[in-house]
Amino acid sequence: MKALITAGGRGTRLRPITSTSNKHLIPIANKPMLFYAIEAVAEAGIREIGIVFGPESHAAISGAIAPYARQGLRFTLMIQDAPRGLAHVVKLAEPFVAGEPFVLYLGDNLMTQEVRKCIQQFEAQRVNCLLMLAKVHDPQRFGVAELSGGRVARVVEKPANPKSPYAVTGLYCYDRSIFEAVSAIHPSARGELEISDAHQYLIDHGYAVGYTEVSGWWKDTGKPEDLLEANRLILTQRDRIAIAGTLGGG
Ligand code: DAU
Repeated sequence: MKALITAGGRGTRLRPITSTSNKHLIPIANKPMLFYAIEAVAEAGIREIGIVFGPESHAAISGAIAPYARQGLRFTLMIQDAPRGLAHVVKLAEPFVAGEPFVLYLGDNLMTQEVRKCIQQFEAQRVNCLLMLAKVHDPQRFGVAELSGGRVARVVEKPANPKSPYAVTGLYCYDRSIFEAVSAIHPSARGELEISDAHQYLIDHGYAVGYTEVSGWWKDTGKPEDLLEANRLILTQRDRIAIAGTLGGG
């Protein structure tokens, strides 16, 4: 199992913070956002990681990940010439994935340790694709999954009137059928190859698309207030500092 992490895109909703820095290098509780994604896939036992980003971020990303490479993780860095959509990211990564099943982790998503569960469910359900879902109050902000008979029956990207409370998070497991999907779909109205269209292609062409739900919390850091909330969530889950001695004043 390999992992593909996204670190490209425009980051427009986080300007001006992203005017000078790649969004995925913004610190959350003092650690670049991208590191949480790397640690999440490494924690699940994955050693081969592909990272996709825009040409302007090459020096910053390769410098940032160097300590992880020294710890034995193997990185393949891939440059996306422009943000052409998440399905385009997958297309670009086909030579890296080389026919193996893989995890796609959107690098601007923070969640508790869910990668292992994603892989376990992908294998247990024997599906072609497994989507990690989360029940939310504002599904119109996300890809929305409609469910039927233990499978995903429909995926709609940011619908005005969502038919389900299940948001598609930024964590997926795939077999090689996803490459047929990303090659067959066409750019959306906003000019991107949408990952939701690729998921819908799989459903429409008889492939099995399974799902499971996040066990802990999940945060997409699309907006500035999400960054504040992500800091709060990470800091709250940190172990409290143990005080072994006696605290005393003067
Ligand atoms: O966070 C979950 C949501 O992520 C899902 O519910 C949606 O179905 C999915 O389309 C995606 O929506 P977003 O609007 O949040 O995607 P965004 O454009 O913010 O990109 C997500 C990540 O992928 C982020 O790490 C930036 C990166 N990216 C994005 C594009 C469009 C790339 O590396 N290249 C790209 O071309």
